[in-house]
Amino acid sequence: MPIYGTRPEAIKVAPIVKALKESELFDCVVTVTGQHREMLDQVNELFDITPDYDLDVIQPRQTLNSLLTRTIAGLDEIFEKEKPDAVVVQGDTTTSTAGAIAAFYRGIPVVHAEAGLRSHDIFSPFPEEANRKMTSQIASLHLAPTSLSKSNLVNETFDPATISVTGNTVIDALFTVVEKNVPFTDKKLEELVATGRKIVLITTHRRENQGEPMRGIGRAIARLAAIEPDVEFILPLHRNPAVREALLPEIDGLVNVTLTEPLAYGEFTRLIAAANIVLTDSGGVQEEAPSLGKPVLVMRENTERPEAVVAGTVKLIGTNEELIFESVELLLNDKAAYVAMATAVNPYGDGLAADRTVAAIAELLNVGKRMADFDSELPSEDELMDATSI
Ligand code: UD1
Ligand code: UDP
Repeated sequence: MPIYGTRPEAIKVAPIVKALKESELFDCVVTVTGQHREMLDQVNELFDITPDYDLDVIQPRQTLNSLLTRTIAGLDEIFEKEKPDAVVVQGDTTTSTAGAIAAFYRGIPVVHAEAGLRSHDIFSPFPEEANRKMTSQIASLHLAPTSLSKSNLVNETFDPATISVTGNTVIDALFTVVEKNVPFTDKKLEELVATGRKIVLITTHRRENQGEPMRGIGRAIARLAAIEPDVEFILPLHRNPAVREALLPEIDGLVNVTLTEPLAYGEFTRLIAAANIVLTDSGGVQEEAPSLGKPVLVMRENTERPEAVVAGTVKLIGTNEELIFESVELLLNDKAAYVAMATAVNPYGDGLAADRTVAAIAELLNVGKRMADFDSELPSEDELMDATSI
């Protein structure tokens, strides 16, 4: 039973659902919590997934505790009825941790996809670093995307035999949609991309950036748009009202700033491919843009994904308005600095993560053997540790 509820989980679980449904070894019962609504449905539609259960737990401006308790209560009823042999949770959201706790308390083995990511700061990202550590404690099978994430788990004394290095399924999803080269639903975006003007693609939503840091991000974008009138700044807005409240007063109505609703996954990844620079605080975007050879400036103080930082495609810049302004300006105007970052790298996967996931689940349930680990050929652990924070 895959359980998921937010946009990034849906994107990363979709390849697992497909592989489970294709396998003769399993019945796959898809359960969504509905932690997100429009942004979740958008992904399920794209990947043609109709959930068997939908808890529809979302509330406007939901708090972490209300979301957690509604989710656990809803899942418990489904477990009573379906009695799954294992659940699959993904990453570090409230849905993910609630799914793990609810399953563990029922004695159902927990499979944790995207296990072992660590920023090594329990308060950042909040609450995700705590969520993924809590899930690790009660998982029976840890699916680590890279050898670094496996090392993090081994260092926390988890049994290496319970860890399989699969690569991240986001790369499976990315490969599937990128080759389709989908048209933009919004004709304005199609025209913008066709002009060949430089594009800076921006996303922001992190809880710890909401409020003043996000207003600073907005001010930096406004200053950049004013000084670079030939560059197009495109910002698909997260549905969270707190994001819009912080950003819109700074950037709404600016002539070379295009604001959109969340884009369907195929359209968004096409926009990454068309962009010159990606400015983001997203986790998934940090994994996808390097694969498409796009420089990524990450508006966070630390990251649990240092692999692409060491590879040179990702740079941590924090949320200081001045630093954001200067970092984007440098990449727009200094060719050498740009070229140094614009190298396609794939430290996060090879497109076979879902197959490795299903094989590892088969081994857990004594009906098959796991596949060889994904070999991410990473630099030394010391170099990677240095790259986790500014
Ligand atoms: C959640 C995850 C975060 C992940 C992010 C991906 C937690 C604690 N946080 O944060 O790890 O990076 O999703 O986007 O699990 N809303 C809608 N429609 C939607 C989605 C959101 O209206 O489709 C609004 C609702 O008012 C909701 C609010 O956004 O209450 C916040 O959503 P929530 O899932 O609680 O937090 P995110 O910031 O999206
Ligand atoms: N994404 C999308 N449409 C958008 C913006 C992002 O499909 O308009 C995708 C993006 O490609 C990535 C995922 O959403 O796979 C990231 O989600 P988000 O940034 O909300 O969450 P995080 O990855 O930070 O948890």
